[in-house]
Amino acid sequence: MTPTYYANANEVQLFEQAYTRALPVMLTGPTGCGKTRFVEHMAALLRRPVVTISCHDDLTSSDLLGRFMVTRGDVVWTDGPLTRAVKDGAICYLDEVVEARHDSLAVLHSLTDHRRALYLDRAGEVVRAPGTFMLVCSYNPAYRSSLKELKPSFRQRFVTLSMGYLSAAREAAVIVAETGVDARVAERLVTCATAIRTADAAFHFEPPSTRVLVTAAQLIAVGATELEAVEACVLAPLSSDGAITDGLREVVAAGLPVPGERTSR
Ligand SMILES: Nc1ncnc2c1ncn2[C@@H]1O[C@H](COP(=O)(O)OP(=O)(O)OP(=O)(O)O)[C@@H](O)[C@H]1O
Ligand SMILES: [Mg+2]
Repeated sequence: MTPTYYANANEVQLFEQAYTRALPVMLTGPTGCGKTRFVEHMAALLRRPVVTISCHDDLTSSDLLGRFMVTRGDVVWTDGPLTRAVKDGAICYLDEVVEARHDSLAVLHSLTDHRRALYLDRAGEVVRAPGTFMLVCSYNPAYRSSLKELKPSFRQRFVTLSMGYLSAAREAAVIVAETGVDARVAERLVTCATAIRTADAAFHFEPPSTRVLVTAAQLIAVGATELEAVEACVLAPLSSDGAITDGLREVVAAGLPVPGERTSR
C-alpha cells in the first residue's frame, strides 16, 4: 500500500524526473513536515525498497560501505547498508545527513556524479549503481550550526527540494486522514499551529509541525479534550525548559473549546 502523502507543490514530479535521470535528491525542511513520509510514498510509487540510514557523528565510511568481519573463523567482507542498497537498486535514504562527518560522506561523491559507482577500496571492488538505485538525503536547515555545514561540493550534487508546512486546508486534510478526527477539530488544531508559527519570530523555538498536530489529534480521537491534547503535544514540546509563555498559551486556548467540553462533535 502506498503511504498517503499530500503534496505541497511540484515535489512529486521533480522526484520522478530525478529518478528517471538517475539524479540524487536532497530534501530540506523543518521537523515533521513530511520528508520521511514523502520518501516512503515515492518509493512505493516507483516500486523500490527503501534502505534508511540515520546519520550521526560516529558514522564512518565503513559503516556505510562495509567491512571485513570474522565469521566462523573466516575473515569475510560484509556489505554495509549503502553498498547493499546500491547492489539491490534500492532507494537509499540518508536521514539528517548534516550530522555525518565530511570524511564519511566523501564516499558518496563517486556515487553522486556521472560515475555512479562505489569504490570499495578495502574489498578491491567497484560497485556500479543500476538505473533503479537512487540516493536521497535530508536535513533540517534549522539545526545547522557552523560546525555542521554540508560542503558546497556535496550540496551541488543534488536536486534539492525544499519542503515546508502545507497550506491550512491541506494540513487539516492530513490530520483527518491520519487520525479520523472531525474536520472542524483538525481545522482548530491547524489554527493553533498557525498562531504559534506566526508568533515564532518573537519566540526562538522551532514551530509546531504537522507531526505534533497529528499526535494531538490521535489523543483527541480517543477522548482527550482539545486543550489537553494541545498542551501535551503542541505546547509542551516547543521548548526544552518548559518556558512557554502564558501569552502564547492564551492565544492558543482562545481558539479551542472551553475545558471540559468533549470534542467528538
Ligand atoms: N505532506 C504530508 N502528507 C501526509 N502526512 C504528512 C505530511 N506531512 C506530515 N505528515 C504527517 O506528519 C508525520 C511526520 O512526518 P515525517 O515523519 O515525514 O516528517 P519529517 O519531515 O521526516 O520529520 P523529521 O525531520 O523530524 O524526521 C507523518 O507521520 C504524517 O502523519
Ligand atoms: Mg524524518
